[in-house]
Amino acid sequence: MDLFDLSGHKAIVTGGTRGLGHSMAEGLMEAGAEAVIFGSSPRVLTVAQDFCARGFLCHGVQADLRDRGQIRPAFEKALALLGGDLQILVNCAGIIRRSPCSECSAKDWEDVLGVNLTAPFVLSQLASGIMIQNGYGKIVMLSSMIGFFGGKGIPSYAASKGGVNQITKAMANDWADKGLNINAIAPGYMLTEINATHIAEGSPRFEQFLARIPQKRWGTVEDVKGACIFLSSHASDYLNGAIIPVDGGYLIG
Ligand SMILES: NC(=O)c1ccc[n+]([C@@H]2O[C@H](COP(=O)([O-])OP(=O)(O)OC[C@H]3O[C@@H](n4cnc5c(N)ncnc54)[C@H](O)[C@@H]3O)[C@@H](O)[C@H]2O)c1
Repeated sequence: MDLFDLSGHKAIVTGGTRGLGHSMAEGLMEAGAEAVIFGSSPRVLTVAQDFCARGFLCHGVQADLRDRGQIRPAFEKALALLGGDLQILVNCAGIIRRSPCSECSAKDWEDVLGVNLTAPFVLSQLASGIMIQNGYGKIVMLSSMIGFFGGKGIPSYAASKGGVNQITKAMANDWADKGLNINAIAPGYMLTEINATHIAEGSPRFEQFLARIPQKRWGTVEDVKGACIFLSSHASDYLNGAIIPVDGGYLIG
């Protein structure tokens, strides 16, 4: 198990207040890491306190990742809380806006690309500065099945997750020889807020997706923990630019 031990490692997890980010932050801390979680509302401080009350080393930083101007100050605050050290960055925060291509507004396009693609790239640039100096670092990106498919009625989300796949590979190409591992998790259909419209009582999409999942169940927040610990630890030291589906087999269904 030493391969997965994160004792003494420091992590930033965006979107750590709920859903997959909360679970992945929890997994990293269970493996021994100290974490800063990012969230868009002051609730992030309460969530961090709740983690501390359970004996974990956790801090909260509030930042709206739609606003590029908030990214660097938030990163610097997080780094100060972690004593200037950083081994792990998990770029998890994400949003979706639903509309057909012809009706996708400029605001939806900019918000979604801002949170899902620009913020992860800028945060990775900032993190890479420390990681390259240390000759070690793990960056975990959050892709989606929609990074492989076009989806329907979610053009900005599709563009953002296609972009996540490409910057994952681009960053791996640039930084792999500097001791960094940059990989992505592509979750399948998971029971979180982002899928509220599909999970809602009576939505036909819930059953349609389920029918294609070989494991015959939607994913839970717990299901991404293992992949995140793997990609954040020495266990993945020779893996770079990979996009790993955690989807109950959806892609091959
Ligand atoms: N749930 C799924 O089925 C699924 C599938 C594929 C990919 N993903 C990806 O996983 C990631 C996490 O999604 P989730 O399922 O946990 O959804 P969620 O809606 O439960 O969580 C999204 C997180 O992003 C944060 N966030 C949203 N807007 C923000 C902003 N402007 N600034 C800062 N933070 C902001 C929220 O605070 C929250 O913590 C996303 O990148 C999503 O695209 C989820």
